[in-house]
Amino acid sequence: MTTDTILLTPGPLTTSARTKQSMLRDWGSWDSEFNQITARLRQGLLRIVHGEGTHECVPLQGSGTFSVEAAIGTLVPPGEKGGHVLVPNNGAYCQRIAKICKVLGRQLSTFDYAEDAQIRPEDIDRLLTNDPSITHVALVHCETSTGILNPLHEIALVVQRHGKGLIIDAMSSFGALEIDARKTPFDAVIAASGKCLEGVPGMGFVLARRAALERCEGNCHSLAMDLYDQWVYMNKTTQWRFTPPTHVVAALDAALTQYFEEGGLAARGGAYARNCRELITGLAGLGLRSFLPTAIQAPIIVTFHAPASPRYEFKAFYNAVKQRGYILYPGKLTTVETFRVGCMGQLGARGMAGAVEAVRDALQDMGIAVREPESSEA
Ligand SMILES: Cc1ncc(COP(=O)(O)O)c(C=O)c1O
Repeated sequence: MTTDTILLTPGPLTTSARTKQSMLRDWGSWDSEFNQITARLRQGLLRIVHGEGTHECVPLQGSGTFSVEAAIGTLVPPGEKGGHVLVPNNGAYCQRIAKICKVLGRQLSTFDYAEDAQIRPEDIDRLLTNDPSITHVALVHCETSTGILNPLHEIALVVQRHGKGLIIDAMSSFGALEIDARKTPFDAVIAASGKCLEGVPGMGFVLARRAALERCEGNCHSLAMDLYDQWVYMNKTTQWRFTPPTHVVAALDAALTQYFEEGGLAARGGAYARNCRELITGLAGLGLRSFLPTAIQAPIIVTFHAPASPRYEFKAFYNAVKQRGYILYPGKLTTVETFRVGCMGQLGARGMAGAVEAVRDALQDMGIAVREPESSEA
């Protein structure tokens, strides 16, 4: 465990001492020991979705967006070959996928929701029925801009019934919320090293259905972003095509070992759910309201309404909480003033209770009235 400032952000997040320690060794990118780590990592990531035998793990250098862009660019054929992506939109990361489609020249349809509304399977059903030219649906599982959870499994079944491909941005849910390839059909799940797996940022990965990936040769507009090429090369040579982020790979390997030792998805998801409940209850006790109803809140990151006080200013609040050892995240909504608190990562010995106390003390320091949590000794 670390004594550093604790990140209450959805990645980068606070990693364990063991994960940090794993980065103290330098690796040669051609070294067979390093390539064994890559192979182990790819297998471990597939295990999380039970995709061994049916899916392929293709890691890619860069932040999560690089892998999202690579997945769209590789799995969706260009316009002249008939690729057409439907992006249901209930937040900023959905909008980013739509922007990627535009930049890459992929035909795009969008369907907009309010930021506090879940994407509905029956809408996807209707949209796919009305436009048979759509070839893929790109869905954000947990929309990190608010923390809303989209009904992935139900949408996946609709997409499968229509014979279309599903590309899932599971950046902030992978490893904590269930995605089971045996039950939930998808062409690709995209995530990254520095999120719920609690590695450090610097690489993403795409878990693609082998039968879908095999058809993707020549789709990609870019050499560096071509997941098909990366996959074929990696299988042939055991190496990454271009310089791998060696320390990031070693850290993710260490993080994944701890993840499985601790009990895998059930344990990680359970810990985040407890953090989330403790956070919402604790801040409610201070008079701070969460933006989403609990029923559609993912246990990953929570958006809170800013206190209704003229003394409130996010930057000052952020600094006051930081002085007490915790890093908050700004809100991402345009219509209401909010801030966000992540439920993920290593929260230190005091857990979420320490964070709630830091928020309380910071608000008191700013002269903003807080409602004291009710004492258990009535
Ligand atoms: C749902 C989702 N998609 C995509 C991304 C983009 O990842 P990155 O900032 O690592 O490029 C994030 C980042 O938090 C995310 O939460």
